Amino acid sequence: MARLVIVSNRVPAPRERKQLAGGLAVGLQDAIKGRDTLWFGWSGATGTETSKEATIDRSGKVEFATIDLSAADYHGFYRGFSNAMLWPLLHSRVGLAEFRRTDLETYQQVNRTFAVALQKLLRPDDLVWVHDYHLIPLGAELRRLKVTSKLGFFLHVPFPPPAVFDTLPKGAELAKSFSAYDLVGMQTKEDAGFLEATLAAYGVTAQIGTYPIGINPESFATAARRADGGPDARRLVQSLGGRALILGVDRLDYSKGLPQRFEGFAKLLKNFPQHRKSVTFLQVAPVSRGDVAQYRALRRELDGLAGRINGEHADFDWAPLRYLTRSVARNTLAGFHRIARVGLVTPLRDGMNLVAKEYVAAQNPEDPGALVLSRFAGAAAEMEGAILVNPYDPDEIAEGLHLALAMDGEERRARWAQMYEAIGRNTAAKWAKGFLKDLEE
Ligand code: ADP
Ligand code: F6P
Repeated sequence: MARLVIVSNRVPAPRERKQLAGGLAVGLQDAIKGRDTLWFGWSGATGTETSKEATIDRSGKVEFATIDLSAADYHGFYRGFSNAMLWPLLHSRVGLAEFRRTDLETYQQVNRTFAVALQKLLRPDDLVWVHDYHLIPLGAELRRLKVTSKLGFFLHVPFPPPAVFDTLPKGAELAKSFSAYDLVGMQTKEDAGFLEATLAAYGVTAQIGTYPIGINPESFATAARRADGGPDARRLVQSLGGRALILGVDRLDYSKGLPQRFEGFAKLLKNFPQHRKSVTFLQVAPVSRGDVAQYRALRRELDGLAGRINGEHADFDWAPLRYLTRSVARNTLAGFHRIARVGLVTPLRDGMNLVAKEYVAAQNPEDPGALVLSRFAGAAAEMEGAILVNPYDPDEIAEGLHLALAMDGEERRARWAQMYEAIGRNTAAKWAKGFLKDLEE
């Protein structure tokens, strides 16, 4: 079997390598199990210079090769072009995008540096799999260095309609670099169609396929069962005092629709007063990319909203909204999902959204909760049993919440069974196997 080479900007930190967490890392865990693997990317550290050669260390069968970025490269490549330009653009949020020619140049330069450092470690029969928007030009840079290995690319985030992508200065060049890959994987048919149409508009083609990412449902269900009844879950249940829990779990990112979600919860309290004092909404949203201006502005907005909603609706013995910007351990969260009567997942746009799948996996099959899900998350295409809402409309979110809270056990079980079947159809293991099989062929 050929060696697998994974390339992603974010590489699990040494202390996380035994138990991987987070969408991309969890998805890849099954792909690398028992396989000779090299995982290449950024170390997460910034120094005075970007390293020319990778630092190698090993954990089981996986070799990790990472490079540090200089402060200037971190600003231009990661904070600038990747997260202040490409992230909003790919989520169709042109108004939030910030373009600087110098950031684009740094992005291209860092991709070149990655390629040079990686090329030194490659063997001709390696299977190279590049991940996400930080590294779109990496394949073309590797080809320039005469790398002949099979090269695959997977985009974890959505792709916008061609007219939106066309607003990107020098977009044609970036689009053309997709054609250096033997296979380009997208989350949904819609994303694949938009990429194909965009490339066609620039006169380029690529082999594009749809590979919806998933989780490992059994292992998440086991984690949830174990955590339920543990000390943190017990404390949470006790603090609820018999009220139903609505749970949101996201990185603090403007693609997740958090202000509209907070407003939607406030509308529930206002428009459906029968739920007042019988529900609590817990939103866990650890700070992400906190040095990008748009993310800081979102945090300020949410701080204000949370204060206003609690100020308006709380009583001396009840606060309707609990809002945490620190992270909570993955296993603890699994238990919280199981306790929650409603999973509230309302991104304005999302490549897939694994939290929705984790909520389903964590439920007690005898008495499952209901999922209120944005119809603009990639996961919506698979989740017929979810209550689908337009995440831009707080009134519709409130209606969805009301429906979820009022739903009887029989309907909850039927909807959950459909969703559990769906997350078992597209697991992380199947996603990786399917992509790698097509790449090899
Ligand atoms: P994204 O990749 O945009 O962050 P996903 O929902 O696809 O969104 O994947 C996020 C992953 O990170 C999931 O596995 C989820 O459990 C984890 N995660 C998200 N938010 C948190 C949080 N607040 N605390 C801990 N883990 C989180
Ligand atoms: O899934 C999208 C993604 O951007 C991954 O590529 C990334 O590792 C994750 O979200 C977290 O973001 P960041 O690496 O910027 O902290």
